[in-house]
Amino acid sequence: MILLAGGAGYIGSHTALYLAEKGVPFAVYDNLSRGHRESALGWEIIEGDIGDAQRLAALMRDLKVDAVIHFCAYALVGESMRFPGMYYENNVANGISLLRAMVEAKVQNLVFSSSCAVYGEPSAEFIGESLPHNPVNPYGETKRIFENMLDWFDRAYGLRSVRLRYFNAAGADEKARIGESHDPETHLIPLVLKAASGERKSVSIFGTDYPTPDGTCIRDYVHVTDLAQAHLAACEYLREGGRTAAFNLGYGRGYSVREIIDACRKVSGREFAVEEAPRRPGDPPRLVADNRSIRTALPDLEFRFDDLGKIIGTAWEWEKNRRF
Ligand SMILES: NC(=O)c1ccc[n+]([C@@H]2O[C@H](COP(=O)([O-])OP(=O)(O)OC[C@H]3O[C@@H](n4cnc5c(N)ncnc54)[C@H](O)[C@@H]3O)[C@@H](O)[C@H]2O)c1
Repeated sequence: MILLAGGAGYIGSHTALYLAEKGVPFAVYDNLSRGHRESALGWEIIEGDIGDAQRLAALMRDLKVDAVIHFCAYALVGESMRFPGMYYENNVANGISLLRAMVEAKVQNLVFSSSCAVYGEPSAEFIGESLPHNPVNPYGETKRIFENMLDWFDRAYGLRSVRLRYFNAAGADEKARIGESHDPETHLIPLVLKAASGERKSVSIFGTDYPTPDGTCIRDYVHVTDLAQAHLAACEYLREGGRTAAFNLGYGRGYSVREIIDACRKVSGREFAVEEAPRRPGDPPRLVADNRSIRTALPDLEFRFDDLGKIIGTAWEWEKNRRF
């Protein structure tokens, strides 16, 4: 049984759906601070906070949990700059209580949602796992701290983990049953599609003078259902005795902001206003994964949605039919 902590959020709910369709037993635990009750398609959301270690330990024992996927975090970079304490408290302190519960319930396999934010502003064309960790905001710092802690929990208690350092999660369930819904939304593709649907007046490009071919920032967008698949593969890797590891999770291909906007116009068939604004501090010009490690360690991973048209197409279907 896999416990999905934070399984009512964007990536967690797509992972729940993926497991449900594969017939893999799982349970969702979420405090619904940033998740959605409506994201559960026929499964229960056990409402609770990961800060409640006693309850979590009892739950893990009762449900015979043998692996945890830990999605819980606050994940807004700007908010983390304004309220760092809130980020340390939820992403680090509450995360420790989840680890304590795992130790108490003798659950030894953990997949952790990390982020390319641990690298800060690397200048490498493709980002490999061995690059130094220099986060430039409290959000990335909390991910780095938690990752480091995991090494010590492995040494002390044999709690093995896979940290998946996602690049930009994007897209939605291919049948548009669930999709991305953050409040506030800060991710590029849903913002552009909200301009396409008329929900927003325009979309802004922050910085058009970066040292990239069209002057706008380049990111590696990875479809959320491929992320879901990677979580199950990581759980299986750990269940088979795989060692603690960290993997970058992106397609290894980057698209600029302008390319995303053009693709959204094409997919939606809609015109909308685009405003050019100054750069935002802490936005590196290019973040693209070197994903060779994960491909080698989890050879059965098959990226089914590695196509910008599919990413934006599924996001657009969701945007038009969203329930939450
Ligand atoms: N979305 C991305 O592009 C991206 C990229 C890199 C890393 N990540 C990481 O992936 C994870 C999931 O991201 P997401 O976009 O699905 O975020 P999300 O906000 O949609 O989901 C997080 C879920 O965790 C729950 N939660 C938060 N704190 C909790 C607590 N103390 N107890 C119980 N539940 C709690 C929220 O209610 C929410 O349902 C996060 O850890 C995030 O940092 C996301």
